[in-house]
Amino acid sequence: MCGIIGFTGNINAKEVLLQGLKALEYRGYDSAGISFFTETGLKTIKAVGKVAGLAEKAAMSDDCTKCGIGHTRWATHGGVSEVNCHPHHFGKVTLIHNGIIENYKELQEELASEGKEPVSQTDSEIAAMVIDSYYKADPVSAIKKAVKKLRGAYAFCIMFEDHPGSIYAIRNGSPLVATNTGAGSIIASDMVALIKYSKDYFVLPEHHIAHLTEGSINITDLDHNEIEPDMLHVNWDMAAARKGGYEYFMLKEIHEQPEALRNTISPRIKDGMPDFSEDGIDDSLFADINRIIIAACGTAMHAGLIGKNMIEKLSRVPVSVDIASEFRYQDPVIDEKTLVITISQSGETADTLAALRLAKERGAKTLSIVNVKGSSIARESDYVLYTHAGPEIAVASTKAYTVQLAAMYLVSFRFAYIKEKISGKKTKELIKELEKMPGFVEKMLSCDKAIEPISNKLLKTESLFFIGRGLDYALSCEGSIKLKEISYIHSEAYAAGELKHGTISLITDNVPVIALATQEDVFAKMISNIREVRSRGAKVIMIAGADAQVDASLCDHLITLPPVNDVFAPFGAAIVLQYIAYYTAVARGLNVDQPRNLAKSVTVE
Ligand code: AGP
Repeated sequence: MCGIIGFTGNINAKEVLLQGLKALEYRGYDSAGISFFTETGLKTIKAVGKVAGLAEKAAMSDDCTKCGIGHTRWATHGGVSEVNCHPHHFGKVTLIHNGIIENYKELQEELASEGKEPVSQTDSEIAAMVIDSYYKADPVSAIKKAVKKLRGAYAFCIMFEDHPGSIYAIRNGSPLVATNTGAGSIIASDMVALIKYSKDYFVLPEHHIAHLTEGSINITDLDHNEIEPDMLHVNWDMAAARKGGYEYFMLKEIHEQPEALRNTISPRIKDGMPDFSEDGIDDSLFADINRIIIAACGTAMHAGLIGKNMIEKLSRVPVSVDIASEFRYQDPVIDEKTLVITISQSGETADTLAALRLAKERGAKTLSIVNVKGSSIARESDYVLYTHAGPEIAVASTKAYTVQLAAMYLVSFRFAYIKEKISGKKTKELIKELEKMPGFVEKMLSCDKAIEPISNKLLKTESLFFIGRGLDYALSCEGSIKLKEISYIHSEAYAAGELKHGTISLITDNVPVIALATQEDVFAKMISNIREVRSRGAKVIMIAGADAQVDASLCDHLITLPPVNDVFAPFGAAIVLQYIAYYTAVARGLNVDQPRNLAKSVTVE
């Protein structure tokens, strides 16, 4: 997830671009760059690191300019380097991009056959090359032809060398908002970069081309029909704007999950099959593996519990999930047929990094699932499968968790297929279900209205339980940590069938129990467990599948998921658990994004 901005008008464009990039920096901050028109042609300044470094470099050039584009990067394709930093330039085209072009390799091969080679390792430069290949003299026509060749998510701002003062933009999936004011026309990834100039804006409709000049923004669809955009108005201040108008980053990041899932899943699907070739992960990594160990911490470890379930269910290969701080001191049994998977949003968690190093010392093959590109765990693993959630600011992990699930599902499908435990047909069916998850999660996001009142009732709770079986037990662990870390209410996740072996003695009148019952094969057992706690006075909040037959007397609150294959229920139930924790913490008046005693990344033992 990157931040992009374009401006053309009658004030210093460099200043507008740099201030906008600073505001957009929470969307990505490993490198930044600007390109702008000057008297002597198009100039570009790039810098690895944060926008401040770019601003220093830009201050050294006294070029004045009224038109330019800027980009702050969250690396997905291609490492963190100046050459991979946007804007990218080819021929007459200079471009910035937020999103992922899934078929960039095929396009690169086509361009190579015409003798055209990129200088960077990015999918974005390939997009610039494709647009340039269609460019004769008409920018709109070149863009229209080029986007027909592109597959994937994109928001582009494009300048053409022989069209000074003009910026063109088009999007598919990735966000772009724009406005025209007395100072000129401005377009960016979100309002945070516009709000200084105007609170009136519009969202660029997908597959429409915006042509920005100082005095106007002209929008046409792909059939050359001109349209007037629907104008919107915000009454946020600047601070709120960075959170996209949400009260906390956590809520914003909960709502970013559809885009994060789409960006993580789509590039790993080729011809309907899971495919890691663009991640440099060959099937040989999995071929002779007879055991898997997943080592991680906190929420990442909980994603590993779901991964264990999925891998064992499909490939029949034993998987153990270890808390990384335990694994590293356990003298683990590892050999060359063991695959150790480390999961980490930050890629810097000390215990997980130590677990990875121990695994490598002992001769295991290592694969990491990491969100931050170029982080220590990513660099030191034999293989890395990046999640593309974009920066996660809130301490409580939400979008990073669900994209970790997506990565685990992709690995479990590919692994089982290679082990010949599932057919190609079955694999494609599973992939089709996984591809529905961004939409499924989108639907789940509207359950907040039903959950907020439930959370308000937990306000005074001292302690509560999450119970479940199988995938629902793994989810219970995640629900429990989410609630504890931001609402400071004690909670415990329990395998529902285990309650009667001791802990049920704690269930007395009005003790809240959040019961996850999304798994059909153990639904009847869950009903009995719910009856057990209810008969002892528990207040039950039940999360169940769409067609669950639930007697009204069984629970105090019932939250049902939209219809979904129950193997994929975790993607929806996770949203419910995130909302429960979020609204409870808000009701208790706590600082949701920065809970006490916690850091976003635990880089010490
Ligand atoms: C999750 O909400 C917490 N912030 C914490 O448990 C986190 O998942 C854990 O510290 C692991 O961090 P990592 O994914 O960056 O390795």
